[in-house]
Amino acid sequence: MYYIGVDLGTSAAKLLLMETDGTIANIVSEKYPISFPKPGWSEQEPDDWWKAVKVGIPKLIEGIDASKVAGISFGGQMHGLVVLDENDEVIRPAILWNDGRTQKETDYLNETIGKDKLSEYTANIAFAGFTAPKILWMKNNEPDKFARIRKIMLPKDYIAYKLTGVHCTDPSDASGMLLYDVKNRCWSKEMCEICGIDESMLAAVYESYEKVGTLKEDVAGELGLSASVIVAAGAGDNAAAAVGTGTVGEGLCNISLGTSGTIFISSHEFKVDSFNAIHSFAHADGYYHLMGCMLSAASCKAWFLNDILGTDDFKGEEGKITDDMLGRNNVFFMPYLMGERSPYNNPNARAGFIGMSMDSTRTDMIQAVMEGICFGIRDSYEIARALGIDVKRTRICGGGSKGDLAKKMMADILNIDVDVPANDQGPSMGGAILAAVAAGEYASVEEAASKIVKMEGTIHPDPEIAKRYEERYQRYRKLYPILKEWY
Ligand code: XUL
Repeated sequence: MYYIGVDLGTSAAKLLLMETDGTIANIVSEKYPISFPKPGWSEQEPDDWWKAVKVGIPKLIEGIDASKVAGISFGGQMHGLVVLDENDEVIRPAILWNDGRTQKETDYLNETIGKDKLSEYTANIAFAGFTAPKILWMKNNEPDKFARIRKIMLPKDYIAYKLTGVHCTDPSDASGMLLYDVKNRCWSKEMCEICGIDESMLAAVYESYEKVGTLKEDVAGELGLSASVIVAAGAGDNAAAAVGTGTVGEGLCNISLGTSGTIFISSHEFKVDSFNAIHSFAHADGYYHLMGCMLSAASCKAWFLNDILGTDDFKGEEGKITDDMLGRNNVFFMPYLMGERSPYNNPNARAGFIGMSMDSTRTDMIQAVMEGICFGIRDSYEIARALGIDVKRTRICGGGSKGDLAKKMMADILNIDVDVPANDQGPSMGGAILAAVAAGEYASVEEAASKIVKMEGTIHPDPEIAKRYEERYQRYRKLYPILKEWY
């Protein structure tokens, strides 16, 4: 049988067709626009996501026996606020995970309600991109639209709804709303009250690997699929990426470098970061994870190379960075193009280059951007270490990990082994695996991941380069505290 995984990302929907044994039969990507209506704001039209899925699925299944497609599931960009009215019509564009407009509401939640209370109700504190501050923002700034809200959804859940007619979500994605009691895996009545919403506006929560329904007849016809195709709840993109790289069960680590960059540590037990700098969320395997998220990772590279330098030749540019240059760059890049989440929780932080002199080159700057992404991940990795979590190795996936250099830099800058999965399709692969579990092909997510996910090799840190990077990182980490006031 075949399973479809939809990675509903920030720049595109990436769709993957997987055979039951994990063989990838096809991959399709459908781009959609993102709008930044004001500095630090970030929005998308839910209908653009739906159109991308409707165009993408027929392309994905072209040439195969469509009656063999048995299930669909998702990895979706997290935290986005999608609001529907009484007719299930979208009220306003979705406010995305990297939107920083909610400083006032975030401060209200963290300071007036209090971090202790938030942590007690949800296991997390407020970050600007989380869903609850956005609901409060609508209440404060768009009261007429707020009054029309009947359903509050996350991006991938909107697609599940369009496919099945069911209002559903899953624990991993619900965790990022700041409305969900992660420890007890249920909605928080206290948070609903604080946000002025009724619990009936929130979706039914299914485990990520549970079936929520089957395709609506008309939708099945449009997609060229059978109406018996099951739809599983799926997961937030990071939990799905973790499934796709086999980061399930106890104590494994995955780094995902997409538009955002995340470090994700799976756990059988519920844990909270007492510094509240990294998130305590439910995992798609039925357990938990800790996660640090930097808001701009691969997007820094795309911004600098495509938009600023005007080149698409990532390989050629990176090829000029030789091993002897690693750990010796005097140029530093702070990757805060959209503010920063973990560990600083500062939507007003901004990106910058520092340390240039007359002999600095274009290549030094490109290297600094790539290093800045790894330093940002290292900031969250240090929080995990401070919690006593001993991460000795990690897996890696996502567009930003393409090429040997990006993976090598991560190994040297974190000074840990980097295991490279046979494919880097994290969230879409994870989505397809979750659909296969929901269809009963595997007894659990852990079993499916252990049978399907293969590693291609391991990159070991180079002790000399890691030593040089240690010194660079210690210089880098002094920059944010110096610039904090200026931001
Ligand atoms: C995680 C987060 C991002 C988005 C990217 O908390 O905000 O990784 O999920 O799609």
